[in-house]
Amino acid sequence: MHIRRPAERLDHVYLSGIREIYESLTRWAAAAPGRKPIPFHFGMPDFDTPEHIKAAAVAALDDGFVRYTSSLGIPELRAALTRKFARENGIIVDPESELVVTCGANEAISAAVTALINPGDEVIIPDPAWPHYESCLLLAGATPVRCPLRESLGFEMDPDDVAALWTSRTRMVVINSPHNPTGAVMAPEAVNAIADLAQNRGAWLMSDEAYEHLLFEGVHASPAARPEVRDSVLTIGCLSKTYAMTGWRLGYVAGPAAAIDAINRVHLYTVSCAVSFVQRAAVAALDGDQGCVATMRAAYRERRDLVVARLRDIPGVAINPPKGAFYAFPNVQAFGRPSKEIALRLVEEAGVGAVHGSAFGPAGEGYLRLAYACSKDDIEEGVGRMATVLGRLGRA
Ligand SMILES: Cc1ncc(COP(=O)(O)O)c(C=O)c1O
Repeated sequence: MHIRRPAERLDHVYLSGIREIYESLTRWAAAAPGRKPIPFHFGMPDFDTPEHIKAAAVAALDDGFVRYTSSLGIPELRAALTRKFARENGIIVDPESELVVTCGANEAISAAVTALINPGDEVIIPDPAWPHYESCLLLAGATPVRCPLRESLGFEMDPDDVAALWTSRTRMVVINSPHNPTGAVMAPEAVNAIADLAQNRGAWLMSDEAYEHLLFEGVHASPAARPEVRDSVLTIGCLSKTYAMTGWRLGYVAGPAAAIDAINRVHLYTVSCAVSFVQRAAVAALDGDQGCVATMRAAYRERRDLVVARLRDIPGVAINPPKGAFYAFPNVQAFGRPSKEIALRLVEEAGVGAVHGSAFGPAGEGYLRLAYACSKDDIEEGVGRMATVLGRLGRA
């Protein structure tokens, strides 16, 4: 008998733990209307998109700019991205052949994996990590190889650990700095050492720089800035976090022409192109006044300081200030329970949507991820409620 079931490539691809917490939180709120859930679960700026960017999208719509575009992206946007790469990252990009505009960084990651990775290839990813990497790799039939990040090293990916995981089947390494979920920022020396490894061993380095502008300490290092390794580097970026544009779905990938040609073919047969009028808005974002980015970064920094201070007041919770992104990753090992149990109790008993660290990989066990891209009032209220629940749980 023919059994209708999803393709086997989905057998180990699940909805993420972030979504599980979101759904539990939604049920908590619906069960007693009037209660306020605390949204620490989604990595989503609470700011509105700056006015000049919205105005550019409206103008593009008024202008009838509503049709398919080149799959690579409109020339004006590719030119603006080329200027941005030179100005901010020190990366020289040929806009004709070394850049594809995508529907968010997630589509860029997924297209790059589909285009460059064969079934059976191994790809070294951070652990914990943004869950998208693992799912895309599993869909491509590849094997994710997790590189545990250690709190004692500030959750930075250690080049020696990457080298130790290398096998003859390693085809790509993924780095992500500033890092989701820990907020770690990699030192340029570590970025360079991993880039050298990839270059010398004939593998790809995928550098996910989605949070490049959300940096409070340290410097952002783009590996593709070094001409000697740029043949191996794919630089992934987006406007989602920098300009509070998560819903606009605008990202990009830059890399060597042959890789971009392959990625563009996957992108073409998946979405055809990024949304036309959003591309015009992206030009306004990249070429416009960057004051909005500095204002939002300053607000995130204040929130970071607040969330760290309040978390440190909770007996049993330990945290070092994250250097970037908008995530706090407190250690809750003192409570002697699986992080998922703690996260679910925080939702059920207090309406707090912190995500269990294990949702980001086994090395995330013992931690919680709090996205602090919410108001200071929410931070005060949410961490206060956490203190009550954790106090009830008691330390092991
Ligand atoms: C590390 C990282 N990369 C990529 C993305 C996806 O970004 P986009 O919204 O542009 O698809 C996220 C979203 O949270 C992220 O945390």
